[in-house]
Amino acid sequence: MTLGFGVVGTGTIGKEHINRITNKLSGGKIVAVTDYFEESAKKTVEQYRLDAVVYSDDKALIADENVDVVLVTSSEAAHEETVLAAVEAGKYVFCEKPLATTAEGCMRIVNAEMKHEKRLVQIGFMRRYDSGYVQLKQVIDTNEIGEPLMIYAAHRNVAVDESYTNETAVVGTLIHEIDALHWLVGDDYKTVQVLFPKKTKAAHSKLQDPQIFIIESNSGIVMNIEVFVNCKYGYDIQCEIIGEDGIAKLPEFPSVITRKDSKLSTGILTNWKDRFVEAYDIEIQDFMDSVIKNGEPEGPSSWDGYIAAVTADACLKAQETGAKEPISLKERPDFYNDERTIQKTV
Ligand code: NAI
Repeated sequence: MTLGFGVVGTGTIGKEHINRITNKLSGGKIVAVTDYFEESAKKTVEQYRLDAVVYSDDKALIADENVDVVLVTSSEAAHEETVLAAVEAGKYVFCEKPLATTAEGCMRIVNAEMKHEKRLVQIGFMRRYDSGYVQLKQVIDTNEIGEPLMIYAAHRNVAVDESYTNETAVVGTLIHEIDALHWLVGDDYKTVQVLFPKKTKAAHSKLQDPQIFIIESNSGIVMNIEVFVNCKYGYDIQCEIIGEDGIAKLPEFPSVITRKDSKLSTGILTNWKDRFVEAYDIEIQDFMDSVIKNGEPEGPSSWDGYIAAVTADACLKAQETGAKEPISLKERPDFYNDERTIQKTV
């Protein structure tokens, strides 16, 4: 069986996913595309030589009977409407983060999905498919380092432009740690506080950079997450779990080590696409395999999207108040029980 994909949003990541589905992975075919700028959709069809219909909007694309999966890669604010329409039509959805820009929006999708009595939606939290994170998860799940007590994580980018705000630091950057750390320790979050260390001269006037988010889980795990997006030296993702019996650290991205001119050196990436390229491939392949074999996606769910949205809202509030803010989740419906979350092996 080949899944027919209808792509909504032919920007940067939309094109990346079109390329991997068309040229790298197996089980899917792009059959329809749409973009707010129709010209962009048409150019994408030409660029990738797709045998796909160009629609003027998402509703027409969703109605196409050849579309089995709606791939949502439009801008953040547009996600909810498209996902809801697709779910209501009973189509599978792969939605890039965020699922919706509000917790209420995520709940509307959760409720619509539950009406179908099977999972339809997966969110693009690709860290869960990165081999380093998968190994870290295995160490925790097999109790190798005992109960996790603390986490030190960092998300560093070379530089950002003026369009990047304190809000982007949460909804565009931290959001990946919010999902990944929750998935790693399997414990809901309770509170968050934000510290603003001395600001780097490299940050523009309206941006606090770096920032430290201190998130506490229900069982008391304290997670210190640094977001430093003008760090200059590279794109660097760090994660260290301190357990009762030992410490587990995310492996460094592999790079050749050279010895030259009295120096021992190794490279550091500068681009997020390079760091997670394999994870993107694996997540989309896993999505297609699960849908084809089991009739349901098994990766990050709408409920994970809801958790991320509630946590992000609390982080934004904590940036404003400087206080410890509660992260209050509704009770997890049985429909999204833990057995459905992935436990992949490398
Ligand atoms: P982009 O701005 O390059 O592309 C977005 C495209 O969506 C544009 O072509 C725009 O015209 C189109 N669009 C906007 N509203 C639309 C609508 N209502 N209907 C149809 N098309 C519409 O943005 P980019 O970087 O490709 O990001 C897209 C989404 O993917 C964002 O939500 C972003 O947060 C997410 N993303 C996720 C990443 C990850 O690591 N998982 C990495 C990069 C982006």
